[in-house]
Amino acid sequence: MTESITITDNRTGESIEIPITSGGVAADEWEKLLPGIWFYDPAFMTTAAAESAVTFIDGDAGKLEYRGYPIEQLAESSTYLEVAYLLLHGDLPSGAELEAWVHEITYHTFIHENVRKRFLEGFHYDAHPMGILVSAVAALSTFYPEASNIFDDTIRYKQIIRLIAKMPTLAAAAHRFSAGMPFVYPDNSLSFASNFLSMMWKTAEPRFDANPALARAVDVLFILHADHEQNCSTTAMRVVGSSHVDPYSACAAACAALYGPRHGGANEQVIRMLASIGSLDNVPDFIAAVKSGHGRLQGFGHRVYKNYDPRAKIIRKAAYDVFEVTGKNPLLDIALKLEETALADEYFTSRRLYPNVDFYSGLIYQAMGFPMEMFPVLFAIPRTAGWLAHWVEMLAQDTKIARPRQLYVGSPRRDYVPLADR
Ligand code: ACO
Repeated sequence: MTESITITDNRTGESIEIPITSGGVAADEWEKLLPGIWFYDPAFMTTAAAESAVTFIDGDAGKLEYRGYPIEQLAESSTYLEVAYLLLHGDLPSGAELEAWVHEITYHTFIHENVRKRFLEGFHYDAHPMGILVSAVAALSTFYPEASNIFDDTIRYKQIIRLIAKMPTLAAAAHRFSAGMPFVYPDNSLSFASNFLSMMWKTAEPRFDANPALARAVDVLFILHADHEQNCSTTAMRVVGSSHVDPYSACAAACAALYGPRHGGANEQVIRMLASIGSLDNVPDFIAAVKSGHGRLQGFGHRVYKNYDPRAKIIRKAAYDVFEVTGKNPLLDIALKLEETALADEYFTSRRLYPNVDFYSGLIYQAMGFPMEMFPVLFAIPRTAGWLAHWVEMLAQDTKIARPRQLYVGSPRRDYVPLADR
């Protein structure tokens, strides 16, 4: 039996039955009964803006799957580049497909010299690396004007390769510039994560070989951040992409969304919170203050997850692998104590507040030496694969331009009053 809902317009007594399909009801059916009556749903809390086959989240159960594969299995056995292929193509690659994909990405890591010399070096010396990244990604559209041919399969694929490949180069360049250090060219003999670490940290040595445990930790963090269905930045990508602009411009909009502290900046807030708590003795007082309405426990709670964020579990484990190399982040003990205290407290359990992905990721990044300004940049590198997967999916679905309605609550019509008469 098909499940359905019935909506009755009490003004006219007319009803319409709408089938429930894939967990949703189609708004165009609603519009047949109620033309000109809009759903009021700011922030899209109850709106499914897309049909998507990329990522599945079950927030109650704390499950995350890319193309049907559980995140735990991908984090354990895959690599970021394989996951990027999976997100974009829908299936895991064969050996030959993976080799060709990795080769393509690896050989598109360089950026045009003018991007570096004329563009990046034009920023003020203390520019925020995320501000540099947003602008640099947008600027790429002027270097590859053919990218506007978004319905040409070959050209579109080329831009996807370029974007995934060049993000670490731009990200590291943004850091080096804001730290007053010279640009490091990509080393194509290295893996994706090792190459990124080389571009970040290389100084005078002829070749920078990252510690394999740290390179693997970065790769795992990239896997965990590669996609998260219709989040704020992905929605920005889809909305801007629906205008049929080139992918660099759409990606720049997605990066800009990620720049915001409510999205890509929460792990920085966690570090600041842990530093302000200062010692284990202060944890109970801090929790009591949060419960009495003074601030939030940063890195706890999630709009979708009402259970332990599965990514947080993986990151918590990865943190120990990183600390074996870097030494323990002194803030870890405070984080563990906070988690233990909160999870034993009715205030947090009754509201279903659990650690999210950001609770431990900042601790790892900080232990590895990344400045806090780089945290959203580190998020943008892998999320590019997810943004592009959603963009490709949206183009294939031939969706209309995104154009929501509004409920107008402003002034009724009135006549202009000349300045002298006001
Ligand atoms: N600490 C203390 N109380 C909290 C927290 C928290 N971190 N999060 C939610 N609550 C409480 C609220 O005060 C509210 O309590 P009430 O019902 O008594 O008023 C209840 O839990 C529901 O909170 P909402 O704000 O309605 O939940 P929402 O789904 O809108 O918020 C959010 C989700 C923004 C993530 C929130 O939990 C939060 O602010 N967390 C801290 C910031 C953070 O970690 N953000 C990263 C999210 S993950 C990501 O973006 C990659």
